[in-house]
Amino acid sequence: MRLNSPQINIITKACMKASRSLIRDFGEIENLQVLAKGPGDFVTSADKRTEKILIDELQKAHPEYGIITEETGVINKSNFKNRWIIDPIDGTMNFLNGIPQFAISIGYEEEGEILCGVIFNPIMNELFCAEKGNGAYLNNSRIRVSNKKKITDALLVTGGPKGASKIKDKIYSEYINVSNNVSNVRKFGSAALDMAYVACGRFDGYWQRELNYWDIAAGIIILKEAGGFISFFEEDINAPIKKNILATNSSIHEQLKDLIDKKDIE
Ligand code: IPD
Ligand code: CA
Ligand code: CA
Repeated sequence: MRLNSPQINIITKACMKASRSLIRDFGEIENLQVLAKGPGDFVTSADKRTEKILIDELQKAHPEYGIITEETGVINKSNFKNRWIIDPIDGTMNFLNGIPQFAISIGYEEEGEILCGVIFNPIMNELFCAEKGNGAYLNNSRIRVSNKKKITDALLVTGGPKGASKIKDKIYSEYINVSNNVSNVRKFGSAALDMAYVACGRFDGYWQRELNYWDIAAGIIILKEAGGFISFFEEDINAPIKKNILATNSSIHEQLKDLIDKKDIE
C-alpha cells in the first residue's frame, strides 16, 4: 500500500486498537440474543467503548484537532482547520443482530475537505482506505469503481428510511422508481460499507437521503480516489451535517440523478 500521510497512519492504528474489543463484543452478541432483555444496552456500551478508544488514540496524536463523532458530538469546536470525523460503529442494527456487516469509519478533514479516510470491517478483516492523490485500497490491493455504463444494467445499494423519518413515502417512491429502472437494488445497512463497496466495484452506485456526515466522511475520499463520482442533492444550508448523497461509478451518475429527480412515479 502506498499511502503514507501521518493522518492515515494515525487513523489505521486507532482502528486496529478499537477493533480488538469490538470483535470481542460482537462475539458476545450471540449469547445475549437468547436473553429476554436482548442485546440493546450492551450494543450502546460497545458503541461508546469503541468511540472512546478511537478518540483517545486520535487525541494522543493531535490533542488540538477538532473531532465530530456520532456519540460524543463535537470536541475542540473552534478548530475548523483539522478535524477527525468518526462513526465508531456504522451498521449498528446489523451488529445488534449478529450480522457481520458493520464498520468503524473515520475521515480526516482539512479546511473543509476530506483528505483521507478508513472504513474497517473487523469481522471480515476488510480495510478500505484512501488518501487524496494516492488512490484507494482494500487491504493491500488498489481498488477501482466498476465500468458498468448503463443504469439499466446497474446493481445499486441504498438505505433508509429511518424509523423517525418524516419523508418515508418519498423515499419509498424513489426506491420503486429506481428499482424499476435498474438491474437490482440492495439494502445492506451500513452507509460506510455501501460506499466502500461502490469504490471496489461490488456495487455500481449508491444513493440515500437523511444521512449524517460521519456515515459517509471516509467513504467520500475512498470513492473519489477509486474513480467514483459523488454529489449531494437538496442540501439544507441550516443543517450542514445532514446529507442526501448520490455516489456512483464514473458512467451512471447522471442517469441515476435523472431517476432521483423524476417527480412522477410510474
Ligand atoms: C446507519 C447506517 C445505515 C443508514 C442509516 C445510518 P448507524 O448508521 O449507516 O446504513 O441507513 O441512515 O444512520 O446508526 O448504524 O451508525
Ligand atoms: Ca452511521
Ligand atoms: Ca454509528
